[in-house]
Amino acid sequence: MSKALVAFFSASGVTKKLSEKLANAIGADLFEIVPEQLYTDADLNWRDKQSRSSVEMNDRSCRPAITSKIDDMSGYDVVFVGFPVWWYREPSIIDTFAESYDFSGKTIVPFATSGGSDIGDSGKNIAELTKGARVDVGRKFSANASEADLKAWAEKFL
Ligand SMILES: Cc1cc2nc3c(=O)[nH]c(=O)nc-3n(C[C@H](O)[C@H](O)[C@H](O)COP(=O)(O)O)c2cc1C
Repeated sequence: MSKALVAFFSASGVTKKLSEKLANAIGADLFEIVPEQLYTDADLNWRDKQSRSSVEMNDRSCRPAITSKIDDMSGYDVVFVGFPVWWYREPSIIDTFAESYDFSGKTIVPFATSGGSDIGDSGKNIAELTKGARVDVGRKFSANASEADLKAWAEKFL
């Protein structure tokens, strides 16, 4: 059986809860992608074109710094990457994460929570940053997805 990691970024806690449920359901390790500078409520205001998240998401080359670090990525075969959908795709800090490790030969499986949008081109975007990895298109889950649903979906990749 493959060794799996659930790595996630969560600004307001919804994706964090889902990630804990997923890791628990499949017996995977859990890793939080922690921004060097935490996002404040003002940073997350998508109605404000000048807010930090708006500015970051308008710049495809933006790579917000991460303070947390995975000691040994080489031990994992499958990496589930969780995040909130921001502007119909993965937050820029997920791009930072994608470029921070050597994922070649591994399977990357994006998953997300959102206010309603689908996961969009997130999988394609992540694949461009992780050459040599197999990257699934990923899936959006509702915040209250059950452990059984998560397990049934995740097992296809293990
Ligand atoms: C900056 C920003 C942009 C967002 N963009 C979208 C979007 O395009 N589509 C959508 O359905 N929800 C959007 N949302 C809502 C989040 O995806 C949703 O609330 C998510 O579950 C939050 O997860 P978290 O608590 O793990 O941060 C956005 C939220 C923020 C803060």
